[in-house]
Amino acid sequence: MNCLSPSILAADVSRLGEQVQLLDQAGAEYVHIDVMDGMFVPSLSFGLPVIRAIRPWSDRMFDVHLMIEEPSRYIGEFADAGADLITVHAESCTHLDGTIEAIKKRGILAGVALNPATPLSVLDYILPQVDMVLIMTVNPGFGGQDLIPYTIDKVRGLKRMIEARGLKTDIEVDGGIRLSNVQTILDAGANIIVAGSAVFGDDIAGNVRRFLKILHAQQS
Ligand code: DX5
Ligand code: ZN
Repeated sequence: MNCLSPSILAADVSRLGEQVQLLDQAGAEYVHIDVMDGMFVPSLSFGLPVIRAIRPWSDRMFDVHLMIEEPSRYIGEFADAGADLITVHAESCTHLDGTIEAIKKRGILAGVALNPATPLSVLDYILPQVDMVLIMTVNPGFGGQDLIPYTIDKVRGLKRMIEARGLKTDIEVDGGIRLSNVQTILDAGANIIVAGSAVFGDDIAGNVRRFLKILHAQQS
C-alpha cells in the first residue's frame, strides 16, 4: 500500500500539535519525525520530549527517523515516547543486527536507512529482518534539498532485490520529493513517501490531498 509520511521538520514548530492533527485529518497515514544529533548529521532537530508532546494529537503511524550516532542507546526511550516505526541508519550502527532486534523486541516496526552513496549490499543479511528500507534521496541533515537522480535507480535495484527474495519489505524514500517527481519514484518501486517542504506551507491539507491523489491512484 502506498502511504504519505509528511516530515514535520518543515512544520511550524510553534504549532506542532495542531499541524500534526491537520495532517491526520487530511488523510496522511504516517507522521515522519526526523531526529538529528549534530554528530551523524550537522543539524540538531528535536527528540524525545517533542515526540511525547505530539503523540496525543494523532493516532497515525509515528515514523521516527533516527539520524543519530549509535541509536541502540535510545531504542527503548523512543518506543516509550510513542514511535510505531523506528528507522536507524546502517552507517551509524556498530551492531546493526542487534539494534534491529532491539526495535523488534519492543513490538514495533523496524527500518534501516541508507545514505545515497551506501550500497544496497549492506542489506544482504539484514533484509529479511526489517519491515522497511529507507532510501535517502538526499544527503541527510536538511529539508528543502533537490533529489539526487541516481537514487531513483537505487530504489529500482532494491525493489528487484526484495522481489527476488520473495519479501514484502516496504520501501520509503526521503528527501526532495515533490508533486512533480513523486510518480517517477512510485514507478521505481517506493511505497512510503516522505515529503517535508512540499507539504508544509500555505495549504498543508491541500498539499496532502494532492499527494494522496497520486499515491492512491496507482493502487488496485
Ligand atoms: C532530511 C530529512 C528529511 C527532510 C525531507 O535529512 O530526513 O525527512 O525533512 O525534507 P524535504 O521533503 O523538504 O526534502
Ligand atoms: Zn527523514
